[in-house]
Amino acid sequence: MNKSAGTLSARYIAWKVLTELEQGNFRHHADEKLEKICQKQILPAVERNLAYEIISGCLRNKTLLEFYLSEYSSQPVSKIEFELRWILVISFYQLLFLDKIPDHAIVNEAVNLCKQENKIGWSKFVNGILRSALRDNVVGKKLRKISATTSYSHPSWLINKWRKDFGEEKAIEILKWNNKKPEQHAAILRNFDETVKELVPDIAELSDEFDQQILKIKDFKNLFKSNCFKNGDVYLMTPWSISITRQLPLQPDMKILDMCAAPGGKAILTSCLEDVEITAMDNSSRRIEKLKENLKRCKIENVSSVIGDGRDSAKIFGKEQFDAVMLDAPCSSLGVIQRHPEIRWRVTNESFTSIQILQKQLLSAAVEVIKPGGYILYSVCTFTDEETEDVIDIFLSENKNMTCIKKELNLPGEKNMCGGFFALMKKN
Ligand SMILES: C[S@@+](CC[C@H](N)C(=O)[O-])C[C@H]1O[C@@H](n2cnc3c(N)ncnc32)[C@H](O)[C@@H]1O
Repeated sequence: MNKSAGTLSARYIAWKVLTELEQGNFRHHADEKLEKICQKQILPAVERNLAYEIISGCLRNKTLLEFYLSEYSSQPVSKIEFELRWILVISFYQLLFLDKIPDHAIVNEAVNLCKQENKIGWSKFVNGILRSALRDNVVGKKLRKISATTSYSHPSWLINKWRKDFGEEKAIEILKWNNKKPEQHAAILRNFDETVKELVPDIAELSDEFDQQILKIKDFKNLFKSNCFKNGDVYLMTPWSISITRQLPLQPDMKILDMCAAPGGKAILTSCLEDVEITAMDNSSRRIEKLKENLKRCKIENVSSVIGDGRDSAKIFGKEQFDAVMLDAPCSSLGVIQRHPEIRWRVTNESFTSIQILQKQLLSAAVEVIKPGGYILYSVCTFTDEETEDVIDIFLSENKNMTCIKKELNLPGEKNMCGGFFALMKKN
């Protein structure tokens, strides 16, 4: 294991996370992978923060950094083994984007990493490339004209799709928003005045930029130590998720099925808005464990959890049992690339077809379990036609007893929120 000044090195951890992510076709979230590695190793907070900065920065600027690398590499970048490529990409990220790390430390760390992996051949290659980049003053170098794919580091098929669907100007706005560092927000579940008194202004600020007052977090370390967090009075959530949750017309004693509930944000917030009874279902036992932890911290008693496939809801619960179904469906997640930069490298043009089939199946299951007069709140954290309007159009054409009352599409960055879609439908 790579050591730096007696501690684990942030660069080593970043490299480990990035290589594992690529090995898994970017199916996992970078922050979850980092958390998992940090559970096994003692990593001081500064090193952990630096590791996250490097990981997210490299994912956000992957194509651009590979372009710089291609300027100094004798081999085409696509031919370089991916573990070696990430060592170089991490080094270029530090050279170009981080100003507190001395150049010689970046080169030494990269070379040491190669040696620790017993790759002497790699260390010569890395040393040669980084030293020639430094001799060439790579940091001050003006780039020749580069494409949007390179400068915004998104796959070209995705950029072309957004250009076609939303026009050139909107597509560029989305790309720019995706590459900004995300702000973190939280909903206040209860004890509003005490929570504000404890957190504002040092740990959070109260933002009224959205349709209700939401906390904008400034200091995570002290948020997690605060009494209101430990008491479960606040829950980290995006403003878009908070606004979706508020769309269901709640009544006391309503019976609600949250069909894809984990890790529980929307169920928890809903349970605090009205005296309702929520069944929170998810097909992932790992994520249901996380949901249970969240319910416990937030001291929520009117939500019970079930591991199960939403498509089997009628078999599990019986027909016409619920007043409403919240269906926060699995999706391509293209609306939350700003928070999860790896998503752009995971999604393929083919992803939409299989995901749309699942979304339609979950909706068909939802309609079976709601009572006449009941609601379905369908939501996704993406904005492609295939997973939003198309799914709802097909569903409504096949279920004439359902009417759409309200729907909304938010493109990433609009109203300073992530991208997403919801449709509220009622059974006649
Ligand atoms: C967008 S997330 C839900 C987020 C959650 N509503 C919240 O607010 O915290 C989608 C969830 O759907 C779950 N899921 C995927 N396929 C499912 C299925 N067939 N049945 C039930 N849950 C499913 C995933 O495990 C994932 O937890």
